[in-house]
Amino acid sequence: MVEGKTVAVVGLGYVGLPLACLCAEKGYGVIGIDTDTARVEAVNEGKSPVADPVLAEKLSKLIGVIKATTDVKELAKAGVVLVCVPTPAKENKPDLSFIEQACKSIAEVLQKGQLIIIESTVYPGTVETVVKPLLEENKSGLKAGKDFFLGHCPERIDPGNEKFTIKNIPRVLACISKEGTEKAKAFYSSILDAEVVVLSSVEAAEAVKVVENTFRDINIAFVNELAKSFDAMGIDLLEVIKGASTKPFGYMPFYPGPGVGGHCIAQDPYYLISRAKKSGFKHRFLELARHINDAMPEYVVSLVDAQLEKLGVEKKEANVCVLGLAYKPEVDDTRKSPALAIAAKLKGNVMLCTYDPFVKFDNSSASLEDAVKGCDVVVLATHHKELVQVISPEFLKAHGVKSVVDARNVLDRQGIEKAGILYKGVGR
Ligand SMILES: NC(=O)c1ccc[n+]([C@@H]2O[C@H](COP(=O)([O-])OP(=O)(O)OC[C@H]3O[C@@H](n4cnc5c(N)ncnc54)[C@H](O)[C@@H]3O)[C@@H](O)[C@H]2O)c1
Repeated sequence: MVEGKTVAVVGLGYVGLPLACLCAEKGYGVIGIDTDTARVEAVNEGKSPVADPVLAEKLSKLIGVIKATTDVKELAKAGVVLVCVPTPAKENKPDLSFIEQACKSIAEVLQKGQLIIIESTVYPGTVETVVKPLLEENKSGLKAGKDFFLGHCPERIDPGNEKFTIKNIPRVLACISKEGTEKAKAFYSSILDAEVVVLSSVEAAEAVKVVENTFRDINIAFVNELAKSFDAMGIDLLEVIKGASTKPFGYMPFYPGPGVGGHCIAQDPYYLISRAKKSGFKHRFLELARHINDAMPEYVVSLVDAQLEKLGVEKKEANVCVLGLAYKPEVDDTRKSPALAIAAKLKGNVMLCTYDPFVKFDNSSASLEDAVKGCDVVVLATHHKELVQVISPEFLKAHGVKSVVDARNVLDRQGIEKAGILYKGVGR
């Protein structure tokens, strides 16, 4: 453990909450700061404000250990301050307003010797040009790297992933001074069962995260484009990916789907695109990938239309249900979810219902059974285990389903077709 046995986590969301739990489990006193009063109350009552059973169990055991508050003055008690506030993209441009607000609050109570780490995803140069000046506007005239320590350690958590958790994912970090870097390394080493890699500059650490997420976005865009082209050619892309995956080097499988969503992959590329633009470079490839992935919900809707045409059902009379609304399985996060985009595009054009075990929507059915009953088209948009385990060919047949659009390519195609139900995947 490093000096300063209290850690403050600013922003108690999908990132901040698991981090606060981890610090508490590792013996740190934890102050959780959030601007959302309901969230603060929930945490103090040991309840998880996000649907995550693992987190819910941890929080229930940490009542009184994590002291959540909206009072930023409490930050003064912490040796380490971890900033995990949102960094959305507004009209496809970085929106640093939450980071700026959090930095202004920290500056009001900044203490000599504190280690401030930005964990939120930011574009290269944010800590130096945005965070540092705001923090240095403190009353005591404290300077970064001299009186307090400042750096970046991008969060890599993958909510819902049971294998790679906040505890065992390696981290990269850098601070603007050598002493800060040493303190940060000691701190992260004290909470993680994973490697902590020190980079030579904060800018490089900032770039790591946007590169990782952009890598995913462009590779998913590549297979999504292949899905459309292979659909046109009548080649099963899933089989092709299976074949290509046997090559032990130089190939890594990515899978087609309804598009990408969430707070990271669908927007972090814009952080890189915007930053590069400021330096006079235009990322054409990255912009194209964003465009391809954003167009996938429209493609899924076109597959629904094709199924209805095959069935000879008029669109306005068609019963269609969208199953799974979160942006990925096992979470309740609907930020930029392609499933919601599909539902929104269908709404008003068909008789639509939706169902997600974690998310309620305005036209949600009470149960999976109610949702699929008598449907002309069932669209599986998000493959929550709870859905996939139940949606068998027998289940679909028993509920009178006539066709399926499997936007995640996870259902039993052969069995469904054998049961006399039309099947279409994305790229197969
Ligand atoms: N969600 C993910 O899977 C994930 C993974 C890795 C990194 N990230 C990055 O981590 C950061 C946080 O993402 P998230 O998904 O946890 O966001 P979130 O929206 O779930 O949580 C953010 C929390 O910060 C609070 N907040 C906003 N402004 C505040 C302020 N000024 N002071 C205190 N609290 C404030 C909000 O009320 C909210 O509870 C983002 O930069 C994101 O890109 C997210």
